[in-house]
Amino acid sequence: MSRTPWWVRIPVLFFIIFGLMEYFVDSGDKPAIIEYPITQFFMLMVLLILIAIEVILKSIENVMFQTLTPEAQERYLAAKDKKIEFKWLNSLYKKLTSSRSIEREGEIILDHNYDGIRELDNVLPPWWVYLFYVTIIFGVVYLIRFHIVGDYDQELEYEQEVAAAQLAIEEYKKTAKNLVDVNTVEVLTEAGDLSAGEKIFTANCVVCHMADGGGGIGPNLTDEYWILGGGIKNVFQTISEGGRDGKGMVAWKNSLKPLEMAQVASYILQFQGTTPANPKAPEGEIWIDPDAPEATEENLEEAPGEQAKDSTIVAMN
Ligand code: HEC
Repeated sequence: MSRTPWWVRIPVLFFIIFGLMEYFVDSGDKPAIIEYPITQFFMLMVLLILIAIEVILKSIENVMFQTLTPEAQERYLAAKDKKIEFKWLNSLYKKLTSSRSIEREGEIILDHNYDGIRELDNVLPPWWVYLFYVTIIFGVVYLIRFHIVGDYDQELEYEQEVAAAQLAIEEYKKTAKNLVDVNTVEVLTEAGDLSAGEKIFTANCVVCHMADGGGGIGPNLTDEYWILGGGIKNVFQTISEGGRDGKGMVAWKNSLKPLEMAQVASYILQFQGTTPANPKAPEGEIWIDPDAPEATEENLEEAPGEQAKDSTIVAMN
């Protein structure tokens, strides 16, 4: 018979089976036990079967015991008694505390006696002593490493952690491009994104804006005049939410994913400054990026008010 008692055996087997089930049943983000209620029933069955096996084993043992001769029964019981469960744990515990059993306390009792209160001359518990040695070793290593050799200091540690976090953010942004919205969108420059943007443009937008962006039903996208504001954020916003009512530019947020809108927005911004075959006359106003680093003297002079306000469209002429 195995040494582990039933109250260890049943839970261990139960959780192993539970873990295997969670590992092998593909249930998306949620644990299988919540996603598929049938698994709860399955685990209940597993538990009942485990208990049943224990009960059956116990009764087989009983029946066998009854068939033994009285001497054999005694030998069996004696053998069973010897099997102290978790023997090593017990002896480890004794070693680490090195406590004196109550019967042998007399050997270490001190001879003073205060109103009946006596004192035992116990040794320091070994677990405590070992821990104390460990702290001494730790202290020496620490002293040498940080005060004599000067391995690294808090500042360096901080910088390393910030750098690592920065890397993690970059990595996250790469995998989470689809999370862009109008506040976080930035011009995409990778060739893959731009050619994806071109495909989306060709498939959806060319009918009204022309392949070279020159304009038709929709306005010219190559000039610096914008009806609804230029720059990646405004363009993304226009594509996502559509133009003014009744003009023909619908909201694309239901048919394009956020990343796709960012790609096509980045693609059409490349039309800026090119010369299309049949340019449509400018519509709207010249758009100046309020966040642009070099504000030229010219536009500072002409539109100081708008510059100060958080406006994206600067009225010229
Ligand atoms: C049915 C025709 C049509 C299609 C298709 C179309 N547009 Fe437009 N688009 C327009 C019109 C019309 C406007 C002007 C809206 C307004 O005046 O409010 C416009 C405006 C815009 C603007 C703003 C221009 C400005 O001057 O502010 C952008 C950017 C734009 N479209 C991008 C796209 C993209 C990208 C697609 C494809 C995903 C697309 N459009 C598909 C008709 C269209």
